[in-house]
Amino acid sequence: MNLYKYVSDEINKKLGFEAKLETPKNRDFGDFSTNAAMVGAKLAGKNPRELANEIMPKLQELDFIENVSVAGPGFINIKIKDDFIFQNANAPKPIKAEKPLIIDMDYGAYNVAKSLHIGHLRTSIVGDTLNRIFRFVGHKPISYNHMGDWGRSMGLVIAWFQKLHPDWPFFKEDFDINGDYSKYTVSSKELNTYYPSAAALAKQDEAFMEKARIITAELQHGHPGYTALYNMYMPISLESMNETIKKLNILPFDNDLGEKNAAKYEEEVEKILREKNLIEKSDGAEVIVVKKASDTAPMPPMMFRNSRGACPYDATDIMAIYYRKITDNPNKIIYLTDSRQSLHFEQLFRVAELADLFPIENLEHIGYGTINGKDGKPFKTRDGNAAELNDIYDMVNEAVRVRIAESKKNLDEETINSIALAALKFNDLMHDLSSDYIFEPNSVTSFEGKTGPYILYTAVRLNSVLKRAGADIVKPEKFDLSVEERNLLIEIMDFEHMILSAYENRATDMVANYAYDLCQLINNFYHNCPILRDDIDDKTKAGRLYIAKLAFNTLATAIDLMGLKIPNEM
Ligand code: ARG
Repeated sequence: MNLYKYVSDEINKKLGFEAKLETPKNRDFGDFSTNAAMVGAKLAGKNPRELANEIMPKLQELDFIENVSVAGPGFINIKIKDDFIFQNANAPKPIKAEKPLIIDMDYGAYNVAKSLHIGHLRTSIVGDTLNRIFRFVGHKPISYNHMGDWGRSMGLVIAWFQKLHPDWPFFKEDFDINGDYSKYTVSSKELNTYYPSAAALAKQDEAFMEKARIITAELQHGHPGYTALYNMYMPISLESMNETIKKLNILPFDNDLGEKNAAKYEEEVEKILREKNLIEKSDGAEVIVVKKASDTAPMPPMMFRNSRGACPYDATDIMAIYYRKITDNPNKIIYLTDSRQSLHFEQLFRVAELADLFPIENLEHIGYGTINGKDGKPFKTRDGNAAELNDIYDMVNEAVRVRIAESKKNLDEETINSIALAALKFNDLMHDLSSDYIFEPNSVTSFEGKTGPYILYTAVRLNSVLKRAGADIVKPEKFDLSVEERNLLIEIMDFEHMILSAYENRATDMVANYAYDLCQLINNFYHNCPILRDDIDDKTKAGRLYIAKLAFNTLATAIDLMGLKIPNEM
């Protein structure tokens, strides 16, 4: 049961108007408090405290209410009956949405021939959890790994191939598309260095940059040699991406359709834009002006076609909206990237509106902050380079191994990997998305405090009690609750309210914080309410086991939403 919603609806029904229910942090005075007396006093032109005295007896008539009391200027505290709590608490189940929405989710969005780096951590982890949350609350997310597989970066990669292997057939005038080129290949490790190396060179060497621009345009226009080369390295890059995705335990993407796929719709989209007179010439390029008279901040135009005739990142994003509209016809499209791309999405959404491609109110960009090192600057590895995602994973994994060795535990590989993953992901999820956070491999792997390993440890320990208890766990008809049991059940009954708010607010930190609070309550329960000890009578044992099972299932649901795995032992 969603306790918050139940109590709120019943109170509003009883009083005949909408009041707001609050959940106080400290539950000593009540489980909830309502501003009903204040709202009612305003409606009736009365004094709130006076009205509270009229409202209280009415609320007292509700059969789930134990008692009510007034506080402050007229807040009414409400305490719920223990038996009501015990009877109605249940483990979370997926929710049916009143109106299920098709939601295209654009996250991950990795780049070909460039390994995943720290900037992809949040889009992957948070994107995956949002996807799971959306499903849980009854919507239909369709995930897109909108790959960087078509823009300037491809020209740079091909130019780099040419620099290393000028004699390869792909670069010859007389390239024969029917030839066998299977011996021309590259390892994924090597390939991942191509884009960064080429980009660095292009920064200093304008001739090389110009060459990359030309190659990009030629590739986009079907140059046979470049196309064959592209088709050779593309699957190699995808494979290494998929390895990292698997390691992170994120759901497989529904689509790997990125920039290249979108670019197929260039003609159709151009026609729409031209009909609306949206394309303008500018220094040999073609752009779309999105500035409004009311803008105070700079609002540059969007690039539709660059001066070499290539279709840039901006343009493929416009085409991707068109593609999604004609295929999924989604209710919403949500993008998850670093907040530094906010301007790009603002421009894009304006184009969608101007061209009538998609309702602007259903386009959403979620921008996230940077992951910093202890010095407050973007996290770098010891050698001063931007950290790759694999390096970060390895760092955390190593820190977990050190801790486990220190505590003389003997855990298998799979368990160690689950703990490392939990350390990394939970730390990412628990922070407010829009702010930066400091990443410190040692603290995130602690088994105590607000960490992933602490969450897993709590789950493993509770599960081992349930396993030891063995027999079927049946709900007793009646059970007297201790404070710890009561607090734990109320938290369990708050799951649905929490997950709906997490959905509304696109706030994965709500799930992480909930999991942590739940663990605190589980541990209080664990320490104060022994279950399998010899001196515990059967009735108490049955009630506690039942509560333990609900708590475990609730925690396991939260853990699953965060894309973590509970090990067998820890
Ligand atoms: N590939 C881009 C990057 O790594 C992110 C793409 C985000 N999605 C989009 N539709 N623009 O920066």
